[in-house]
Formats: sequence, C-alpha cells, structure tokens
Amino acid sequence: MKVVAGIDGSPAAEAAITWAAAEAASLGAELDLVHASPPPPDPSAQHIVSTAIALARQLQPGITVDGWSETGSPSTALVKASGDARVVVIGSRGLGLMLGALIGSTGLDLAANAWCPVAVVRPDLNQAGRRVVIGYDGSPASDTALDFGLDYARRHDHAVRVVAAQPPGTELHRITETELQDAVRQRGGHDAELIQITGHPAEHLLRLAADASLIVLGARGRGGFAGMLLGSVSQTVLHHADCPMVIIPTATTTGG
Ligand SMILES: Nc1ncnc2c1ncn2[C@@H]1O[C@H](COP(=O)(O)OP(=O)(O)OP(=O)(O)O)[C@@H](O)[C@H]1O
Ligand SMILES: [Mg+2]
Repeated sequence: MKVVAGIDGSPAAEAAITWAAAEAASLGAELDLVHASPPPPDPSAQHIVSTAIALARQLQPGITVDGWSETGSPSTALVKASGDARVVVIGSRGLGLMLGALIGSTGLDLAANAWCPVAVVRPDLNQAGRRVVIGYDGSPASDTALDFGLDYARRHDHAVRVVAAQPPGTELHRITETELQDAVRQRGGHDAELIQITGHPAEHLLRLAADASLIVLGARGRGGFAGMLLGSVSQTVLHHADCPMVIIPTATTTGG
C-alpha cells in the first residue's frame, strides 16, 4: 500500500508532502513523490524530487520514501501512480491550478480518473480542526466517502460529522433518517454526529465544516449528467473550503 503525492517545488506541494507524509506514517504505507512536467524535460526535476524526499524524511523519519520525475502531464502521471495507492495527494496552487480555487485542471482530471481517493491540500488551509465532515447523499461515491472519512477519523482520533442535506422544493433522492443511520452504523461509525437538514447541500456542508480538519465528498452524487467530472456540490465545496478535502473519484466506486 502506498500514499502518492504530486510535487512541483511549490509551497502548495510542500503542504501536500506534509499531509501525505503524515498519512503514510499513520497507515504504515510507503510514500511516493511524483513529479511530472510537460516536455521538454525540466532541468530542475531532479532537484525538486530530492528536496521533496528530504522534506518528507525529515517530517516523518519512520516512513519509506521514494520519488521520481516524469516528462508528461501531471494528471496522467498521478492517475497512473494512483493504481496501487491508498490516496493521492495534490497541493492546489502548484501544478498550474487556478488561483483562489481549491482545484483546477489537474485536480479535476484526477477526480475524474484516479483509481483511489484524491486529497487536495493548500498551504493556507486551516489544518487545526479535529473533525471530519462527510457529505452523504446515498450515492456509491458517498458510501466510499463514508468509508474513507470514518477510517481517517479513527486513525487520527478526530470526531465525525455526517451531513445529508435535502435541497428545498424537491423530494428527489431524500435520505431517510434510518438510511443515514444504517449507512454510518454499518461502517462502525457509532459515535458519528448525524445531521439531516433541509437546504442547499454545499452551503450547509461549508457552514458545518467551518472547524473541520477534512471534508470528504464523492466526485459525483446521485444526480446530474453522466459527462460531468464533478457534481455541483463537490465543485462548490472545493472552491470555498478552507480545510483539506478528499474527493472520491467515480472510478473508485465503479471499478472504472
Ligand atoms: N444533498 C447532499 N447532502 C450531503 N452531501 C451531498 C449532497 N449531495 C451531494 N453531496 C456530496 O457531494 C458529492 C457530489 O455530489 P454532487 O451533488 O456534487 O454530484 P451530482 O449529484 O452527480 O451532480 P448534481 O447534483 O450537480 O446534479 C456526493 O458524493 C456527496 O458526497
Ligand atoms: Mg447531487
């Protein structure tokens, strides 16, 4: 089992390395640091990789760290590396992502195509919280979000809050109290706080995650069009969250 982090020498990548190294230590997993840049080959690649490896070893002396660089698109390299990973971690202001938003083209590509959960970390994010917030809409991706979030919280001794919001004016896809309870308890989340609330899911999720250490959502939910990479809820939360987020790619829940 591995944890993979995408690196590019930016402060955002340092935040990703820090989060990924802590996760590797917690899981007892190897950490792989992957650098990729489009052709021509980047002359600073070797330096970026060795600096990142040194940082990870310094932060978590107990873990096994490997790193390499590839010429090509970062998302292609990271999707490939995600094949045998537990989680792939990216920093959102490196890797050419949009300023001011938590995710850009690399993240979108990963969220759509990675074979494991994708963590997005930004250097300025609040990481002091001790609560994992999970968005649940009954979709397969949100079931996997529950699995990931509950396991993360257990390992890091954080509290869990599961939010199922019902958009106003529609009964479509309403999650009953029993369905929510069953989904969480069947995964051992007996101490989790369950919140069922009417209103806009993204707004409630952001408000209820104000002191969160992590938000976990599916890339897609129950609605929408098959072609979209991210649903409206995960997209909105990604653009406004001020803590790290984990997105569960569709490929993780459907097997591709
Ligand atoms: N009503 C909700 N309450 C809580 N969490 C939700 C809700 N809706 C979605 N989520 C979370 O957000 C993730 C992505 O769902 P989202 O709604 O963004 O995608 P979608 O349903 O495919 O598209 P859209 O709703 O935009 O048509 C879900 O897997 C779930 O984790
Ligand atoms: Mg939806």
